Amino acid sequence: MNEFKQIVLSPDPRLSEKCAPIEEIDDEVRALAKRMLKVMYAADGCGLAGPQIGEMRQIVVIDVDWSGRGSKKNPYVLINPRIITADGPEKEGSEGCLSFPGVSVRVSRPSHVVVQARNLDGDLMQYEAADNLMAVCLQHEIDHVNGVTMFDHLAPIARAEAEREYKAALEAGAKPGDTEVE
Ligand code: NI
Repeated sequence: MNEFKQIVLSPDPRLSEKCAPIEEIDDEVRALAKRMLKVMYAADGCGLAGPQIGEMRQIVVIDVDWSGRGSKKNPYVLINPRIITADGPEKEGSEGCLSFPGVSVRVSRPSHVVVQARNLDGDLMQYEAADNLMAVCLQHEIDHVNGVTMFDHLAPIARAEAEREYKAALEAGAKPGDTEVE
């Protein structure tokens, strides 16, 4: 099975849609989480949201410790995630996305977040992150289930430039996971 073929690429309209909450965390949802992690690891991503594989549900997987084949895995699965707090000084960083192969963009986001989400056992969990990849990744992935992409954070001129760069990358054959983000 080719995991990359499952990944929904921009400008697919599903990436701009709000996802439905998950009412029941059952075996089907657990199987979905497992499949999402498989796709994410295969593409060397640190996060993946439901709509990125065409599942229009509020589910996100994250592993900020994953650094490629052979490294240690530390997966998080967040069901119906909500940002409770997003504050602290805004911090600009380079972001990539499996749905935008071949490009990275500078995005400015709050440096501190508190997130609530259910885990696969149905427990309500709280996650807090500041000034690190987890803080960025939580916001980036939760954006996805709300129909927001990293390009939506760009000012018009930067966005037009990023769209041109992305189009060129696609034409050059870029695949999910090709992006190098420093
Ligand atoms: Ni993304």
